[in-house]
Amino acid sequence: MGINIQSLSFIKPRHVELIKLIKESWFTLSLATVCLLIVAGTTAVSAYLIKPALDDVFINKDARMLKLIPVAVIIVYFLRGLGIYGQEYLMSHVGQNIIRRLRNRLYNHIQDLSLSFFHKEKTGTLMSRITNDVNTIKAMVSSVVTGSVRDCFTIAGLTIVIFTQIWDLALLAFIILPVAFYPIVALGRKVRKVSRKCLEAIADMSSFLHETFAGNKIVKAFGMEAYEKKRFFDKTLLLFKLEMKEVRAKSLSSPIMEFLGGLGIAFVIWYGGYRVISGTYTTGTFVSFLAAVVMLYDPVKKLSKLNNQLQQGLAATDRIFDIIERQSDIKEDENPVILSRGPHNVTFDNVSFRYKDVMVLKNINLDVKSGEIVALVGMSGGGKTSLVNLIPRFYDVSSGSLLIDGIDIRKASISSLRDQIAIVTQEPILFNDTVRNNIAYGNLKASDDEIEMAAKAAYAYDFIQGFPDRLDTMIGELGGRLSGGEKQRICIARALIKNAPILILDEATSSLDTESERLVQKALENLMKGRTTFVIAHRLSTIGYANRILVIVDGRIVEEGKHEELVAKEGEYYKLYKMQFGAIDIK
Ligand SMILES: Nc1ncnc2c1ncn2[C@@H]1O[C@H](COP(=O)(O)OP(=O)(O)O)[C@@H](O)[C@H]1O
Ligand SMILES: [Mg+2]
Repeated sequence: MGINIQSLSFIKPRHVELIKLIKESWFTLSLATVCLLIVAGTTAVSAYLIKPALDDVFINKDARMLKLIPVAVIIVYFLRGLGIYGQEYLMSHVGQNIIRRLRNRLYNHIQDLSLSFFHKEKTGTLMSRITNDVNTIKAMVSSVVTGSVRDCFTIAGLTIVIFTQIWDLALLAFIILPVAFYPIVALGRKVRKVSRKCLEAIADMSSFLHETFAGNKIVKAFGMEAYEKKRFFDKTLLLFKLEMKEVRAKSLSSPIMEFLGGLGIAFVIWYGGYRVISGTYTTGTFVSFLAAVVMLYDPVKKLSKLNNQLQQGLAATDRIFDIIERQSDIKEDENPVILSRGPHNVTFDNVSFRYKDVMVLKNINLDVKSGEIVALVGMSGGGKTSLVNLIPRFYDVSSGSLLIDGIDIRKASISSLRDQIAIVTQEPILFNDTVRNNIAYGNLKASDDEIEMAAKAAYAYDFIQGFPDRLDTMIGELGGRLSGGEKQRICIARALIKNAPILILDEATSSLDTESERLVQKALENLMKGRTTFVIAHRLSTIGYANRILVIVDGRIVEEGKHEELVAKEGEYYKLYKMQFGAIDIK
């Protein structure tokens, strides 16, 4: 049985994961090690060739050797070149491959985390982990693995040499080594700490860049360019200071190691010289011993640098695994029920919901029959969006339960649940792809005809025809040319093409003018037929067709009924109605 690395307390499970990741490339790694050995071997051989070159060629004037040795030198250097190339190529292969797999793993994991995670973490910070932090790990893997293999081999070889020559003096020279480990460890710890702060500062900077570029319109509108420049300069200054702190910790290890090496060598000269003078050793033995000791301290010094790189890599590992070890708070049931496609009843059974400590929905009881259209109205901030967010499990209820055809949605498979739902969210979000692909996002298998039909039904077809490449125009190329209403209509087309039994429209037509709203409304009304629909509407004039209207105030359903009933009641709905009616009156 080997050592169980997990039993060593300073090695955390995340480091084991990293080692596993490195071990996956064991074949490439062993090839690289062979190359390393070739490099080390040819170095020794080229040094060894000096002896016959001197003795046979120059002293004995051997003509055969005069031909052989240059040929041997050429072969040795050719092999050495191959070894260096192979080692560099293969080690980079391992490093780059680890980066690729770590990035995939991070992205995979982040995509599966719940929406609340994305609300907590800043986009730029997450991007920085996938781009920047992962890179630091590459540097660690390739240089630390290569360096430690090469230096450990050299140290082992030279140690054998000095112990076979003068064992007692070798023992004394080795006393200095444990002393050398103390600064290595202490400085390494410091490097790790500062390195983590650097990564945090870089993440903070990239999140700042993301925000101020994405929101540049607001920066300009409020004349805040100078303010943002100053804030950015502060961030680069902080990063500069941290980087320099890291450099100080990293570079300090070299002079300390040099000095300790010097102490060791001075001691060997003093004590060994004394033994030579007293006649215990010959001068030759002592000189070769001393040469080996000098050579030995060199890889030891390099190991201290490697430790710094290792600590930097471990700091990045920590940040990456902080994310990978994060659990989604929306969990898939162990034996999930697969919801079949078809009309569904949606039931809220005494549902309450809170974001952290703010109660947003209180004791919601609601039974929506399949095919029914329910409109949710009320002042903004009342909790309408939060209520419909519970249906696709963007968030889980805090208490009570939400049932689809009597099945608690927490027991249903998440993907089958979301398959049942088409949603037009309050913010129209499109991706930088063609208009066609943005619509086909709702159903990747949709044919061109279906895409066109969806665009027509959402009254988006006409304005899309005005784009340079029509349906094949990239959203980005339109450079913000799309109006809010146009974006909303593409979003509606995307939801239409999904053709799902449950439809959620969260202020889907709020950015449309009255005329196009009337048109899109018609298309939506056609679409709602036979589907269980939740419509959140801003303008009460657009919900005349609803089977039932719910008035949501402060997280509660305060009124429920048809338009005429609610108006007659002269309660909350009547108040909203009068406000909008009044507004129309003024016009
Ligand atoms: N991610 C969130 N974290 C914390 N509070 C939130 C979050 N989203 C919404 N809220 C709060 O929940 C309440 C209801 O919001 P919302 O459901 O968006 O209302 P509506 O859609 O009716 O305008 C508001 O007070 C809002 O501030
Ligand atoms: Mg809302």
